[in-house]
Amino acid sequence: MTKVIAINGSARKDGNTAILIRHMLEELENEGIETELVQLAGKTIRGCTACMKCFENRDRRCVFDDDIVNEYIEKMAAADGIILGSPVYFSDVTAEMKALVDRAGFVSFANDGLFTRKVGSAVVAQRRTGATHSLDTLYHFLFSQDIIIPGRPTVGVGREVGDVDTDDEGIAAAKNAGRNMAWVLKAVTAMSGTHSLK
Ligand SMILES: Cc1cc2nc3c(=O)[nH]c(=O)nc-3n(C[C@H](O)[C@H](O)[C@H](O)COP(=O)(O)O)c2cc1C
Repeated sequence: MTKVIAINGSARKDGNTAILIRHMLEELENEGIETELVQLAGKTIRGCTACMKCFENRDRRCVFDDDIVNEYIEKMAAADGIILGSPVYFSDVTAEMKALVDRAGFVSFANDGLFTRKVGSAVVAQRRTGATHSLDTLYHFLFSQDIIIPGRPTVGVGREVGDVDTDDEGIAAAKNAGRNMAWVLKAVTAMSGTHSLK
């Protein structure tokens, strides 16, 4: 079954970013696509140490096994679609999201591209400013991995948990992004008999 994994980089579990992501997932589920949301809140994730062991070992893992990164790399590699969501923290993604994509990205490169041609989307929640720069960070990762991005990203506006639910345009963007992702996933599957073109 076609599956999408969504990663919420917020330090706040079930906050505004999670709300936006869930609107996307609802649309995907309506199209018969399996979804899973994982949240980085409460998890300590170290950054990449540039040790290059992943290029020596080439075992689809980061050599540091004391946090959730390897588990999430596996989930991303097994999924057909990847949604990356983050609140804006000082005009960028959270430190945890950056640490995850840095390490997952290098492990992927060391293993001939674990995420190549998956379908991806980016979601951010902001109080007022910085969404563009944060999306840029997420897009740089998605593009670097040859992930296919179907259309517009999602930006929701809100400060306290639940505020984004009053941002009609943000919710509409999330639903639109979910539908676009489902469309591409279904089209690719119909064409190739499998999601994975690699
Ligand atoms: C450390 C920190 C930095 C923030 N920096 C920004 C910022 O630069 N621009 C902005 O619009 N909102 C900023 N915010 C507000 C959050 O992006 C906003 O509250 C968002 O809705 C939180 O989403 P969440 O509930 O998923 O965590 C910041 C919040 C925190 C905790």
